[in-house]
Amino acid sequence: MPVNNSIEDLRVIARSRIPRALFDYIDRGSYDELTWTRNRDDLRAIELRQRVMVDVSRLTTGTTVLGEHWKMPVALAPTGLTGFFHRDGEIEAARAAQAAGVPYTLSTMSICSIEDVRAAVEGTFWFQLYLMRDRGFNAALISRAREARCSALMLTLDLPLQALRRRDPKNGLSVPPRITAANAWEILLRPRWLTGVLLGRRRTLGNLAAFFPKRGIGELSEWVGGQFDPSITWKDVAWVRERWPGKLILKGILDAGDARLAADARSYANTDLAWGGAGCAACRWAGVGDGSKRIDRRQALLRDGGSGLATYDDGLFARGSEYGCCCSRVSGRGLHRSGHRS
Ligand SMILES: Cc1cc2nc3c(=O)[nH]c(=O)nc-3n(C[C@H](O)[C@H](O)[C@H](O)COP(=O)(O)O)c2cc1C
Repeated sequence: MPVNNSIEDLRVIARSRIPRALFDYIDRGSYDELTWTRNRDDLRAIELRQRVMVDVSRLTTGTTVLGEHWKMPVALAPTGLTGFFHRDGEIEAARAAQAAGVPYTLSTMSICSIEDVRAAVEGTFWFQLYLMRDRGFNAALISRAREARCSALMLTLDLPLQALRRRDPKNGLSVPPRITAANAWEILLRPRWLTGVLLGRRRTLGNLAAFFPKRGIGELSEWVGGQFDPSITWKDVAWVRERWPGKLILKGILDAGDARLAADARSYANTDLAWGGAGCAACRWAGVGDGSKRIDRRQALLRDGGSGLATYDDGLFARGSEYGCCCSRVSGRGLHRSGHRS
C-alpha cells in the first residue's frame, strides 16, 4: 500500500485519475506561466528563523478569522468546474472542509449549485460571485446565497477579462467534457472518472442552469463567455454592498490604494495573486518586478493599506512550513490546488 503524505502525492494520484485537459486546467497557469513560477520561487526563498528552548507542548492551530472560529487558519478557495474533477466535487469539498473545521468557498462557476451544496452540508459555506453584465443574474445569485445562509460573499475583482490559458485549447478542454478521438483512450483508462463524471448526472454549471432552465450547455457557455463585464469599477462593489449586508470579501486586492478602497467598502480583502498565476498576466503585489519578494510586498500592502482592513491571503501553500514562513500579521490563507508547488 503506497503511503501518501504530501500534496505532491495527491497531485500524482489526481494525474492518474482525471484526463489531461482537466488536470492541466487545475494544475497550470495562464500565458507563459510567469506568475505561476515566480510565486513558487519567492515562497521557497523565504526561510524560518529558528529559536530553541521555547515551550511548544501546547500548540494549537485554532483561530478566529472574519468572526468565525476555524480549526486552522486556512480556507478552501473557489474553483470553477470542481464537479468535473470528481463526481459531486463541490459537495465533497464542502464536506471535507466542514470535517476539517475550515470554510469552503463555492464558485459561481460550480457544477453543483448553491442549493445542492446547502442540502448536502449542515454548516455554513462562503459563496464567490463574479459580476456579470446581467445584473439581474447577480441579484438572483446574491439572494440565493443569502437563502442558503452563506456566511460570507466573496466578490472576485480580478477577472474583468478572461486570461489566455494556452494549454486549455490545446488539450481540447470543453464544458461539459467530451470523448474525442484524441482523448478516448485516456478516458477509458480512467473508468472511475468516466462513470462518475462523464456519465454522471451533473453535466452543467449548476448555478446558471437554474437561471436558464431551457438552454443547452452550448448556449450557456456562450452566454457566460459574453458576460464577464470589463467595465466594472468600485461603484459596482457598492452595488453589491447594498444587496449583501453581511461579510464581504473582495478577491484580488494587490495594491495599497485598492486596499484602502476595499476598507471604505466595509469589506475584507483577499490577496490572490492573479489566481496563483492561473488568472491574469504576470503581476505582483503593488507593482511589477522591482525585485522584492511577494511576502515583503504583501507586508507593505498591509502596512500602507490603512487600518481596519482584515486581509486574507490567497494561494500557493502546500505545506505547513510554507504557511509558517508567511504567518506574521496574517489572518488566514486561501488554499486551493497547491500540488504543483512541491
Ligand atoms: C482551476 C482553477 C479554477 C479557479 N476558479 C476560480 C473561480 O471560479 N473563482 C475565483 O474567484 N477564483 C478561482 N480560482 C482562483 C483560486 O480561487 C485561487 O485564488 C488560486 O487558485 C490561488 O492560487 P494557488 O492555486 O496557487 O493556491 C481558480 C483557480 C484555479 C487554478
